[in-house]
Amino acid sequence: MEFFDVIQTARAMRRYKPDPIPEDVLVQLIEAAHLGPSGSNRQSRHWIVVRDPEVKQQLADLNRAGVSAYLEHNRESANPHVDQGRRERFLAAVEHQMNHMHEVPAIVIACADLARAPQGTFGEGAAAATEVWGAVQNLLLAARALEVGSVPTTLAFVGDGREQAQAVLGLPAHILPMVLIPLGWPTGNFGPIRRRPLDEVLHWDRYAEQSAT
Ligand SMILES: Cc1cc2nc3c(=O)[nH]c(=O)nc-3n(C[C@H](O)[C@H](O)[C@H](O)COP(=O)(O)O)c2cc1C
Repeated sequence: MEFFDVIQTARAMRRYKPDPIPEDVLVQLIEAAHLGPSGSNRQSRHWIVVRDPEVKQQLADLNRAGVSAYLEHNRESANPHVDQGRRERFLAAVEHQMNHMHEVPAIVIACADLARAPQGTFGEGAAAATEVWGAVQNLLLAARALEVGSVPTTLAFVGDGREQAQAVLGLPAHILPMVLIPLGWPTGNFGPIRRRPLDEVLHWDRYAEQSAT
């Protein structure tokens, strides 16, 4: 695929066929993630690829706890560019994924390794932002290029979900699960990503409420 077509159509996909994803494809995706940037090239990350049904079920249970609470309190769209109809379709997809998370072909858990950073220089938030998310985006784009559906999720880790996930995955205390990424061959089509207009966020030289065009 052409590079910018990949970027423009790498939208969140939450409904998958049951067919497995070949191991070499999974390795290719993790390799793409592993090539992502990190501060001082610390590469403070680990990737757990979960295919074991029992482990998937336990992660699905954690996701269900976080998503249920989210669905209960976040039905209204907080984004003026997203009308309520679109919001409802989004919520239906999130709920579908909640109900089928245990069935997805593979779940990747992107983890931050706090022990690889100089003492006290990054806590949980910075670990997520600086070490993990750039790499996760590589994975999402690589998945799109290979027609694999994916979505970065975090609701499994709210409350004590992160600690519970550490126990489920056998992670030591310094390795934090940050992003849960289900992977599967999508039942629907990849489509164009919708975002707010570029001129609301693009500024030349200095910030301005309305960019001059
Ligand atoms: C920090 C972060 C946390 C997210 N957490 C979840 C989540 O817990 N569950 C979920 O279904 N999607 C989650 N998403 C995916 C977003 O809903 C998605 O990126 C956004 O709606 C844009 O989707 P689009 O690229 O299809 O337009 C998360 C995305 C980010 C960046």
